[in-house]
Amino acid sequence: MEEGTAHVGIEEIHQTLAACGQAHLLTFWDELDAAQREALLDDLNRVDFEQVACLIPTHVLAVPEAAAQHPIEPPDVVRLGPGSRERIEAAEAGARMVAAGQVAALVVAGGQGTRLGYDGPKGMFPISPVRNKSLFQLFAEAIQSAQRRYGGTVPWYIMTSDLNDAPTREYFAANNYFGLRPENVVFFTQGMMPALGADGRILLDQKHRVAMSPDGHGGTLRALATTGVLHDMARRGIEAISYFQVDNPLVRPVDPVFLGLHRSTGSQLSSITVTKADDLEKVGNFARVGGRTCVIEYSDLPEELARARNADGSRRLNYGSIAIHVFARSFVEQLTENIHAMKLPWHRAMKKVPYVDLESGERIEPVSPNAVKLEMFVFDALPLADRTLILEARRAEVFSPVKNATGVDSAESARRDLTARAAAWLESCGVKVPLRPDGQVDATLEISPLFALDREELAERLAKKPTIRPRDALYLE
Ligand code: UTP
Repeated sequence: MEEGTAHVGIEEIHQTLAACGQAHLLTFWDELDAAQREALLDDLNRVDFEQVACLIPTHVLAVPEAAAQHPIEPPDVVRLGPGSRERIEAAEAGARMVAAGQVAALVVAGGQGTRLGYDGPKGMFPISPVRNKSLFQLFAEAIQSAQRRYGGTVPWYIMTSDLNDAPTREYFAANNYFGLRPENVVFFTQGMMPALGADGRILLDQKHRVAMSPDGHGGTLRALATTGVLHDMARRGIEAISYFQVDNPLVRPVDPVFLGLHRSTGSQLSSITVTKADDLEKVGNFARVGGRTCVIEYSDLPEELARARNADGSRRLNYGSIAIHVFARSFVEQLTENIHAMKLPWHRAMKKVPYVDLESGERIEPVSPNAVKLEMFVFDALPLADRTLILEARRAEVFSPVKNATGVDSAESARRDLTARAAAWLESCGVKVPLRPDGQVDATLEISPLFALDREELAERLAKKPTIRPRDALYLE
């Protein structure tokens, strides 16, 4: 009887797969043991075959057409001078939001981190220059410090993916949630998308496993709705979601100026920008297209536009996106109200994806890109917002991503930038910092977020000016 049911079950699945040209996923079914069959069925259950079938003609067999052509214009950007009345008022408004418990932090940590090549969730990567604290620990301390400074609870939502959910949760549990209350640290997982061969057939990673990867940081919006996180936020009275990526140790997870300005301008989706380091820097570019704010990926921006200049010689598209945003919860609710109608576009990337050869049954490690991966990007929500805000910040204060093992945007450069920021804060408090002949700081400096979240707080806390000798390591907590 049971066998019969299983048999009917697989027949039905076979038919469903055949109807969308994916019956090959069952090629090895007869060879699989019970556990492997279960694993395969589990994978198949996670795939939205209808959606994949719609995307194949436009995104796999073809390269998606560029959106309707509108001129690409520079965006409107707000600058708040240090010590300006506007900045002080924004900071006060943001602090009130935190105190009232209206702010949540959200880190996206579901990526694969292939470039860094670290064996474990990227958030566990040790990064702080003196104590080697992990990225997760730095964010946890910043959130704890913000709670202490402004009052109120800031729940922290951590988006993982199937690739790293279990080790991430274990890491937090083993470290006592770095002093945060466990009920205020909420994990949720994003969706997965199958990788497809150039012929539109989904790849098998093993005979009993579908080749799948996370659906991109744009998957956050869908996951917020489908996992019940939005309800949890509503229940807690959250109005503003402070969004950041797991790989930026300089980020301020709870930034009162940014939050306050978001609120006072009535923005639905706000972003921090820094001016680009060079014309072709590999960051998204903020722009206005067809009257809407958007981010154009560096790879999609024509080079002549990337190099274009204003009459005064300044760069025409000079505002890079560093993936720091504040979402109004109501805006995310509006976007995800009808999850199937959510309009974030899919982006296509050709990648090397190991797969099982259907003829020989052997697993092949390709030497060149062989598969299409499809991802959504979170900044594609920008043009869907009627009210947006872009606030300029100084790069040295807010951004140094850990993308690569060495060189540009690496652990090494992020540690150097953490030390450089600590040095700048200390110098603004009158502390003498030793420099090397090339101008780099000749010491290793670390200011725990528990000690100070910004230079103003450092000035308040620094009772006695430390003496820093060349090559010293200084840690403040
Ligand atoms: P990246 O685009 O740098 O990708 O992600 P990555 O997976 O971390 O690294 P590579 O490209 O494989 O080397 C930027 C941020 O978005 C998150 C990442 O965890 C990181 O914080 N992200 C990315 C997700 O949460 N989910 C995704 O599907 C993709």
